Formats: sequence, C-alpha cells, structure tokens
Amino acid sequence: MASTRWLALAALNVFSLFDPSNAIKTPIEPRNGFGPSEAAARKNAFDIFNAIHSAMRQWGSSLNHNGMSAFVVTIPEGVLLHHGTNSPNPPYGPEWLAFEIEHAELFARPYMPKLPKRPAPGLPPYSAILHPLLGRGTTNTNTSTSSADADADADANAAAGHGYLHTYLTTSPIPLLYLDGSSAGNTVMGTLDTQDLLLRGNRSAPLMDEFGRASELCELVGRWGLLGMVRMEAGFEVIKCPPEFTRGMRLLTAARRPHPGQPGYALSWSDVFEFVRAIARRYRGIGGGRVQVDWSSMVSAFFYDVDLSGGKWWPRLVGLSDAELGAIRERIGQVAVERAAGGKRTIDWQGVVDLIVARYSERLRYFTEAVDTIKVARDEINGLLNTYIIYDEPDEGHQAAIDRCAKFYLRAVTPETQEDHLILAAVETVTQDICSTLFRARKLIVEDPEADAGSLDSARNILQELVDKLRWTTWKECGACGADEAAQCWNSRPENN
Ligand SMILES: *[C@@H]1O[C@H](CO)[C@@H](O)[C@H](O)[C@H]1NC(C)=O
Repeated sequence: MASTRWLALAALNVFSLFDPSNAIKTPIEPRNGFGPSEAAARKNAFDIFNAIHSAMRQWGSSLNHNGMSAFVVTIPEGVLLHHGTNSPNPPYGPEWLAFEIEHAELFARPYMPKLPKRPAPGLPPYSAILHPLLGRGTTNTNTSTSSADADADADANAAAGHGYLHTYLTTSPIPLLYLDGSSAGNTVMGTLDTQDLLLRGNRSAPLMDEFGRASELCELVGRWGLLGMVRMEAGFEVIKCPPEFTRGMRLLTAARRPHPGQPGYALSWSDVFEFVRAIARRYRGIGGGRVQVDWSSMVSAFFYDVDLSGGKWWPRLVGLSDAELGAIRERIGQVAVERAAGGKRTIDWQGVVDLIVARYSERLRYFTEAVDTIKVARDEINGLLNTYIIYDEPDEGHQAAIDRCAKFYLRAVTPETQEDHLILAAVETVTQDICSTLFRARKLIVEDPEADAGSLDSARNILQELVDKLRWTTWKECGACGADEAAQCWNSRPENN
C-alpha cells in the first residue's frame, strides 16, 4: 500500500528548474541494477525529511519507531555515561550504557527485579513502559527468557550480590553507529529490522536475543572502525563493544546500591515515573552536545528503490531480498570506514530541516485549524509567500517564486557526499511541495478578488492534504506537563487515533 501512496506523491510533485549551484553533474542512479538513487530519495522524500528531523530525539523517534537509517555519530570527550550492573568492575562487553542516570539505576541491582503491578486503573501497564527492559538481565550472562529460570537466577544472585551504578567519563571521542527510530525496542513491529535483517542478515533472530544481537553487531561495526552502537528505547543508550569496553572512557565511580531489605532496594512506581520524567526531557534532543551526528553519513533504506511496504502503518525491511539488504549494508560499511575517524566536513541537515519546520509548522496548523476569515487568510499567506515574490518580475505561474521558496533554506548548503545529494533531493522535494501548495492556496485566497468562504474551504483542504503528507511530529507534541506529571502521550501515537 505504502508504495502506491509514494508513487502517487511522486506524480503530484512538480520538479522544476534545475539549480546548478547545488546539483552534481550526473544524477545518482543505480549502478549494476541496484543502488541508491535520487529518484528513490524523491519518492521517499517525506520519510527522509522526518527521519532527519527525528534523529536523536526521543519524541519523533518514538512516533516513527521503525528506523530505516544509520548514521556515524561521535560521543565527544567529557561526556558522562552510566551503567547499572551487579559488579563493581567494568564489564568485558558488549554492555549497555545509558545517557540518563535514572535509566541506568534500573539495572543497578543484583538481578532484574520483579516489576510492580499496574498501580492504578487507567495507567498503562508497567510493561508498556519498560517492555524492552524485561528480557535483559543485569549482566550479559543472563539471557534466560523463561520467568521460572529468571526467578531462579534472581534468587541465587540476590543472595550473593549487590547492585552497582557505574559512571564513566569519556576521555576521547567515541565513534559509534546510530540506528534511528526505536531501535532498542524489542518489538515485532519492525523496530529491529535494521539490526536483524539489514546488519545481521538474520530473518529468524529471536526478539529477545539482545546479547547475540549486540555481539554480532559489535563484530560488524568493529571491522568498520566503530566502538559500538547508539540505539533508543525509552531513553538513548550506547552498546559498547569488547574487547575493551572502557576504551575512550574512565570509570569515575562504581556506587553500591541498597541491600535487599534496605530502603530504596525494591523497584517502585516512583522509580518508573522518575525514569519516564528523565526520558521525556529528551523529547526534543539528547542535550549537552553528548552525541554529535555526522549527518552527511546518513545511509537509509529510503535512498533505495525497494519495497518497504511490509508493515501495516510503518516501513519494514521484510520485503527486501538478501542481495538488496547486502548492498545497503555494504554502503553503511563504506561510509563508516570513510567517516569513523571524524574530521570530515558534515552538513547540519537537521539544522536545515528544523528551520523549515519552524517556519511552516505552526502556520500550517493555524491555517488548517483556526483561520476563519478571508482577511486573516490573506495576511497569513502573504506573510509566508511575499518574501519569495519579486513584484516587478514577470513570473508565469509564479514558477520562479516557487523555486525561490523551495530553495530558500537550501541555498547555503553545498552537498559533498553521495548521501548529501540524496538528502538534498529529498528535502527539496518536500519544500517544492510545501511551496507549490502554498502558491495554489494563494491563487484562491489572494489572487481572486472575489474570494469567499468557499475559497477558504478549498484552500484549507489543499493545505490539510499537505499536512497529511508532511506528518510532522511537531503536530503531535504534548503541551507542557505540570510539576507533578510526566508526559507520555500514549493517545498521540498515530495508530491509537
Ligand atoms: C539467527 O539468529 C539465531 C539466534 O542468534 C541463530 O540461532 C540463527 O542461526 C541465526 N540465523 C542465521 C541465518 O544467521
């Protein structure tokens, strides 16, 4: 279904005027039958745009949970990372590090505790929040999934040990492979597709095979010069690879947590809410410059002409052949090898996309939801478009103005990598659509002196169609919470509407 929709969108788009300033001589086309192409990037333009907007942000990466892209990222020197475990010593790896201390605290126990039951009617079950954590032992050796085994392990460990919260400080830049979306979510929805299907090439990997997954991915990214992965579930995390888990880091503290029976030992609902509160602070970004994304290293399944329609609402990789998956994996490896060491020029694509969203997001919402007079509608459209019109220039059908509008935020961009060119093709497809649609609305509202309520309805409808295509996650954001609340916004998930 999705591919039919994309074809329809591609047909609707008006691609005009080729700008030599940011185009390469030869458009990117598949070689030897399969490869990335600008045509595919345009077909999937709205998804690519949103993937860039949501990368390293908890909010958009939760809504668009099936990530289809990989980026080379670096944790710079001087960042604190936390690891909850049952030993005071650094692990061998692969092991998990959290950016938020509340996230790591959940694991700083002699064993993964039994979870409290749903505390009150109306609240989501605990497992809906911590689902991905449930199958993961506090140490990499606990991979048992049956609850009887887990209880037996738990009892043995509880008698023996304590929990410890490790805090590490990075002492040199740490290059990692970031898999976008909710890639640490152990779900059947497709959140693991880039790991299991694309990188591991395994169509039958068990959901909870966290240690196997981490080990295989470590072996792969290690060959590419990377020290691990960044993923997101409820919270961002690092998987740091063996044989030198502590490479580029210094253990600052390994703080012993309470004994069984001491206050603070049992996992309570307030721990869970503190965790959610901490995670929700990262809806708009992980903050503190803790992860530097090399945007020009983005390799995405959206750059390829492949069948991503295997999911009901969301893109999936299940429809790709082994050869297709292999070719995309190979490209991720090439880019990682080229860029792992850092020092390469990168374009701040998220910055570009943010400027575009900031200019149009609230105004499109205002127009489609609240504008109810022609006068206000005219003011709004003129406010958005006047800047692109040169009033003493003949411009049939406003083609030149539409083009200026579409390229407004792209003029300062000079793409270098193959991926930059693919991203540019996608972003420009989106801005072309925004601008040509706004000029259609302008024709109805501004250019027609007789514009009436019917014209306003028509303009609202075409802008609503644009909003439906854009699917910007900003339109689903929750308002600010009270001091005694934590935003979860379960009802704002698109599939719950
Ligand atoms: C997939 O992963 C599982 C679990 O690690 C493993 O048993 C199986 O052999 C793997 N299959 C392939 C094709 O690699």
